[in-house]
Amino acid sequence: MQFDFDRPIIRTGTGSVKYDGLKEFFNNPDLIPMWIADMDFPVPDCVIDSIKKRTDHGIFGYTLVTRSFYDAIINWMRVKHGWEVPADWILFSPGVVPALTISVMALTEPGDKVLLQSPVYPPFFSSIRDNNRMLVNNQLQELDGKYCIDFDDLDFKLSGGVKMMFFCNPHNPAGRVWSAPEIKQVVALCRKHNVILISDEIHSDLIYPGYRHIPSAQAGEGDANMIICMAPSKTFNLAGLASAFLIIPDPELRNKMKKIMENLHISYGNIFGLVALQAAYEGGGDWLVALIEYLSGNRDTVINFFREELPEIRPLVPEATYLVWLDCRNTGMNDREIKRFFTNRAGIAMNPGTVFGPGGEGFHRMNIGCTKKTLNNALDKIKKAWINR
Ligand SMILES: Cc1ncc(COP(=O)(O)O)c(C=O)c1O
Repeated sequence: MQFDFDRPIIRTGTGSVKYDGLKEFFNNPDLIPMWIADMDFPVPDCVIDSIKKRTDHGIFGYTLVTRSFYDAIINWMRVKHGWEVPADWILFSPGVVPALTISVMALTEPGDKVLLQSPVYPPFFSSIRDNNRMLVNNQLQELDGKYCIDFDDLDFKLSGGVKMMFFCNPHNPAGRVWSAPEIKQVVALCRKHNVILISDEIHSDLIYPGYRHIPSAQAGEGDANMIICMAPSKTFNLAGLASAFLIIPDPELRNKMKKIMENLHISYGNIFGLVALQAAYEGGGDWLVALIEYLSGNRDTVINFFREELPEIRPLVPEATYLVWLDCRNTGMNDREIKRFFTNRAGIAMNPGTVFGPGGEGFHRMNIGCTKKTLNNALDKIKKAWINR
């Protein structure tokens, strides 16, 4: 096999949040870690080679974001998403979460309303609340295992003076790859109510067969007043290298963001993050195809396991991401009991649904970015814990 995702690699002792953080966050270092969103797979060889080559040079002085960095992004957007992006629309960012917070700080005022759609990735909440903005929630609706947007509620809430909307496209943890009509309607409503759209598209390359990611700027409702946040970090497992970027077609918005990022001196990035992004986008395409095939296998294993062995827990079939949203509402357990079941009885560390805000009650999020062996071991432990509960 050309790419070996089955090879076990010990991550304990590397400062990994997922492994070395178990003691601090779960009070038990021996759990199987299926929580924070990174994967247990080594990055593509081309990334390792490019970092080694740059390391061999031995001088790590102030470094420009080069034209080849932008070209790698431009080409990736063209090939993967059919989107022509001029270089001057792209701003480097040391992460997507910093960009969310900076957008709030740069483009809204304290007390302004910012809308999100829960259940959603927890930093969406903190970047609003911790900056003293008012949180408005357009809660997603779950219908027969599939989440959808309540557009009447969105229209109503955006009309109430909301300045900014956080849109998670594809959605974590719901696993939805929003369709063209859905995205179009979100963009149209933001335009109607003059709301800045922050579209977090960090999961846009991890799409399962049968689905297609559409950047919010490509939905057919124009690209004004929006910021698209992207990164190779989820796609190629590079989260520790803090390398992301924003695509901002709107010149006024772009200048505002550029100014504050230059002010904070974060617009240059770090050498290895820049090198890794470029190498991954230039040479990681085949690796990504193989990764998605491997993850599809893990996804099917999880779906079949719960369907056949433990139907009281219902995984929602993800259309994207290696994160599976487990509906545990039919187990008869409350949130504390569900957490205790997975953590103390099964020995698995997962993210409780409640941290994703309203609508997360009764759910747990499972990270399947691991070897088949680890996954099967975890499912086995869940089954035994269920039988002996
Ligand atoms: C929707 C979403 N946005 C952002 C991030 C993290 O972004 P970064 O590590 O670039 O700050 C994650 C990580 O899981 C995520 O799921």
